Amino acid sequence: MAETWHKHDMDFLGGRRLRRSRRTAWSRAMVRESLLTPSDLIWPLFVIDGHNEKTQIRTMPGVERLSVDLCVEAAKAARDAGIPALALFPNTPDHLRSTNGAEAYNPDNLMCRALSAIKSAVPGIGLIADVALDEYSSDGQDGLVRNGEILNDETVAVMIRSALVQSKAGADIIAPSDMMDGRVAAIRDALDGEGFEQTQIMAYAAKYASFYYGPFREAVGTGSRLVGDKRTYQMDYANSDEAMREIEQDIAEGADSVMVKPGLPYLDIVRRAKDSFNIPIYAYQVSGEYAMIEMAAAAGAIDRYGAILESLWAFKRAGASGVLTYYALEVARKLGA
Ligand code: PBG
Repeated sequence: MAETWHKHDMDFLGGRRLRRSRRTAWSRAMVRESLLTPSDLIWPLFVIDGHNEKTQIRTMPGVERLSVDLCVEAAKAARDAGIPALALFPNTPDHLRSTNGAEAYNPDNLMCRALSAIKSAVPGIGLIADVALDEYSSDGQDGLVRNGEILNDETVAVMIRSALVQSKAGADIIAPSDMMDGRVAAIRDALDGEGFEQTQIMAYAAKYASFYYGPFREAVGTGSRLVGDKRTYQMDYANSDEAMREIEQDIAEGADSVMVKPGLPYLDIVRRAKDSFNIPIYAYQVSGEYAMIEMAAAAGAIDRYGAILESLWAFKRAGASGVLTYYALEVARKLGA
């Protein structure tokens, strides 16, 4: 039996129908409020020793650690896809890690070799160098440790030396990810003093003590060494006002841009920062966020690429100037195609 539908009297709308602009693809395109382009995407790379060497990361299916020569190839692909910058993270060989993290300021360390190789082969792409001790220390902490305490000012002194060797090797942007107090001002001062006035600082300003960093720690080889957690320096996930204080402080100390990290669980912080400060804000879609999408897609629970695009667009909608994402190359290529 055929249904009989009765039309309700909609006069109260006064002709206002929001669905009107959603009816067709051309109209949806016309009213779209935010855009995602390859220049919004920053690609993190994990660097390992060796030649023509790549290794799998168990918890990040589809992401590989690459030797320096392969990083150069990756940089070319990124440049060709319109990606503006790469963020490098070294997986320092075990025998070079120590409690004082001295490898962090060895001018010939893996990070510096990768920076200079990419800079000379692919000069047109921006290079972001992470500065923190976890990638060089035997404790897996971002700072120097004494009697279980993470030392602030002593760590800053090491970070300055690390930032200087990275800048000399070709880093365009120094990105301190350690959350020590005062490091932005100290690094700015040191860079200026050594003739690196043009080297930018992208401060990991609001970086939370997050469970979503798990796969990254496997990628750089710090996961199994980390004793305890990072809650005495990374932020408490219950806080938002405090993130504004961190960002304000880093801007006052001379940061050129600031970062919020992790990404999707902290979109409220991105939006609040965008409304409060007049500076480029980047969000980091971290390793655990990547793993969640990959594993949900592999289980058939979500449409993989649809979920990826939606997640990246959310950062733009929230006000981010760009996103550090392991999906950068794939998405930049597809957007550009
Ligand atoms: C620390 C650093 C971390 C990440 C970037 N820089 C991990 C941590 O703070 O323990 C995480 C990035 C990710 O999870 O993708 N140098």
